[in-house]
Amino acid sequence: MNAATDTIEVRITDVDAAADDTRVFWLARTDGAALPAYAPGSHIDVYLPSGLVRQYSLCGADASAPEYRIAVKREPASRGGSAWLHSAAQVGTQMRIGPPRNAFALSDTADQHLLIAGGIGVTPILSMACALAASRGHYTLAYFARSDASVVFRTELGRSPLADQARIHVGLSTAATRECITGLLSAALPNTHLYVCGPPAFMEMTAGLARDMLGEQFVHQESFGPAVPVAGDEREFSVRLEGRRDAIPVPAGKTVLAALREAGFDLPSSCEVGVCGTCMMRVLAGEPDHRDTYLTDDERAAGTCFLPCVSRSNSAVLVLDELA
Ligand code: FES
Repeated sequence: MNAATDTIEVRITDVDAAADDTRVFWLARTDGAALPAYAPGSHIDVYLPSGLVRQYSLCGADASAPEYRIAVKREPASRGGSAWLHSAAQVGTQMRIGPPRNAFALSDTADQHLLIAGGIGVTPILSMACALAASRGHYTLAYFARSDASVVFRTELGRSPLADQARIHVGLSTAATRECITGLLSAALPNTHLYVCGPPAFMEMTAGLARDMLGEQFVHQESFGPAVPVAGDEREFSVRLEGRRDAIPVPAGKTVLAALREAGFDLPSSCEVGVCGTCMMRVLAGEPDHRDTYLTDDERAAGTCFLPCVSRSNSAVLVLDELA
């Protein structure tokens, strides 16, 4: 399992300034072949020329369309991902992407779907709404945006078939947003599943309300940010690399990646926040404390993979090996 395997070379075929800080890109394969089909809620890895890897939701209205569509918000603190896509990428630019991955799938047993988006989190939510509209599924979409100028896909959301079920809320305070979401949850029928994507605090508030009002099993959320560290829970442990006798201490406040590099090991990395998989290593002994948002639940349960840029150890010693 390597983040860089099975990549696809694509070309940007169109670019649109969708909002004051957001550009929408259409991507097609450079060899003219069809891109892999995807389910609503899926995202792709985008491999940038700088070596960085970024994740973007596929937000096409038709998941079987020959091109992929992604929307990229320019982040003020960008370390080269969104900044490059906003300043350098243009029609004709080629880059590599990974195949679609879906950790945010629609439930096929839900009677109703409540789709809630904050800001650029509307991207996976839009593809879900389009799929539900096409299949005549029952859904409601609420999209919370900071300002009129930051609303993405306003035209699409305002016309058939989405207009009847989609509401855009602009400029609400945190209290008003909470009140609105509480109202939506209060009106939810039995067996309604909630899907939320947006900034971390927005998702935390929405998912918390939904867990209380609907139940844990009805709540789905998507996040491309780093896992949130739990304050004060970092303990010192050691890592040992396969074939080496010396254990390398990893004190609180230092990552395994940093400790290994300081010890002279040249390891690859990109995002360094646990979302891209570039730094992945194999676990040979010990119990990992996974802090990433890249591995699936099954991969975590298997306990054989480890992302040293963010994850730590529950055991005193973790024995690791580089991926072949
Ligand atoms: S460098 Fe991206 S997950 Fe570690």
